[in-house]
Amino acid sequence: MTEVQDRRAAEARSDDFLRFPPDFLWGTATSAYQIEGAVAEDGRTPSIWDTFSHTPGKVNRGDTGDLAVDHYHRWREDVALMKDLGLTAYRFSVAWPRVQPTGRGPAVERGLDFYRALVDELLAAGITPLATLYHWDLPQHLEDVGGWTVRETAERFGEYAALVAGALGDRVRHWTTLNEPWCSAFLGYGSGVHAPGRTDPADALRAAHHLNLAHGRGTAALRAALPGTAQLSVSLNLHQVRPLTDSPEDQEAARRIDAVGNRIFLSPVLRGRYDADLQQDTAHLVDWEQLVRPGDLAAIGAPIDQLGLNYYSPAVVSGSGASRDDCHGRSDHSPWPGSEHVAFHQPPGELTAMNWSIDPTGLRDLVDRIHLERPGLPVVITENGMACEDYVTPEGVVNDRDRIAFVHQHLTVVHEAIEAGVPVAGYFLWSLLDNFEWAYGYAKRFGMVHVDFPTQRRTPKNSAHWYGRACRTGAVPR
Ligand code: NOJ
Repeated sequence: MTEVQDRRAAEARSDDFLRFPPDFLWGTATSAYQIEGAVAEDGRTPSIWDTFSHTPGKVNRGDTGDLAVDHYHRWREDVALMKDLGLTAYRFSVAWPRVQPTGRGPAVERGLDFYRALVDELLAAGITPLATLYHWDLPQHLEDVGGWTVRETAERFGEYAALVAGALGDRVRHWTTLNEPWCSAFLGYGSGVHAPGRTDPADALRAAHHLNLAHGRGTAALRAALPGTAQLSVSLNLHQVRPLTDSPEDQEAARRIDAVGNRIFLSPVLRGRYDADLQQDTAHLVDWEQLVRPGDLAAIGAPIDQLGLNYYSPAVVSGSGASRDDCHGRSDHSPWPGSEHVAFHQPPGELTAMNWSIDPTGLRDLVDRIHLERPGLPVVITENGMACEDYVTPEGVVNDRDRIAFVHQHLTVVHEAIEAGVPVAGYFLWSLLDNFEWAYGYAKRFGMVHVDFPTQRRTPKNSAHWYGRACRTGAVPR
């Protein structure tokens, strides 16, 4: 027996470990703009994040993704790192502006070649790839003609999805269409803290519907191009919303945030409908009858095989009072159309370097909710993790014990859910590497691997060793 088999057998006998199902996906997640750099290579054109990050005042310290962590040139080293650590799955995103620089027309093969080579390297290393088609890097060309506020963008996305499916479909089985469409719509077009930085609540709602439609078009394109075994999903950042008190006013606030924070995506994707209360709350902003055309909901509600869930922190809301930062960045414009008066409060619990409270029960509540709404639909935790004030000691160590505790707590909750019969199929730690944390630039470190940005030197943190062991053995300590 190899050392790993040996350890696995020992752990299988031991009651000191929580053992996960043998086919559980253990991975880390990244996204193209946050790690690749090489923004003008091989035909890539600017995305909305290039434009936004180069606009003074939009990103902390003026940081951009121009170089990021140079993954476009260091991908072999990064895959080798994953292999050495023992990771068995990897979630990455494909950059639309590399594949279709103008957002339309034939694919640029050099752009696709990068992902073909990456996936081949992953497979050779025994790592299961999970491809995300859209992680916020809309080609600027498409934003120039309306971006997500226009329906045409969803049609363009369907074409792009077909191109990527044609190129990678023979080697990628797990797909997610969109990453966190809530952020694309409401931070991008509502509060404006994300690209493209627009601040119109009606546009934000239009964007949400067109992102849903893009998911539908993307799902249809993937289904048409891929064999029956493809596993299709969308990754949602569902908000675990709790009322501050049980007063009717606070419960009403929680209902509103649930509608525009969660059900605006969950209901069309899982049930093929927009809920009546959401439409009422926002009727003064958009005409839903006009926005949603015949056939849209059937397309959006087409069956998926898994639901991706990204979870970081819960939210506590009240119907009135002074609001604090709602975890999504400061802006004079609310990202919550129709619910601008709702106040957000600091939930209990320790805080991460993002000032997000740590509460694994929120993750459990969300997977239970999905299970209740769609029994049997596998849930994949496509993101979970924390930012810490990490640094490399003179001995070359990054002792991120808080991150280990965080991941341990959340995996424990995932294990409890599985034991209770909820089909959680995988866990992807955000993130493999420290990277470009959107409006926060490089100031927030989420990686399991430390990156010294000036030298690009990678140093696995203690959490990487801890998590690698969990991946290799399929178990975590109780
Ligand atoms: C959600 C996003 O998908 C990812 O891009 C981001 O870096 C993490 N959460 C942390 O904020």
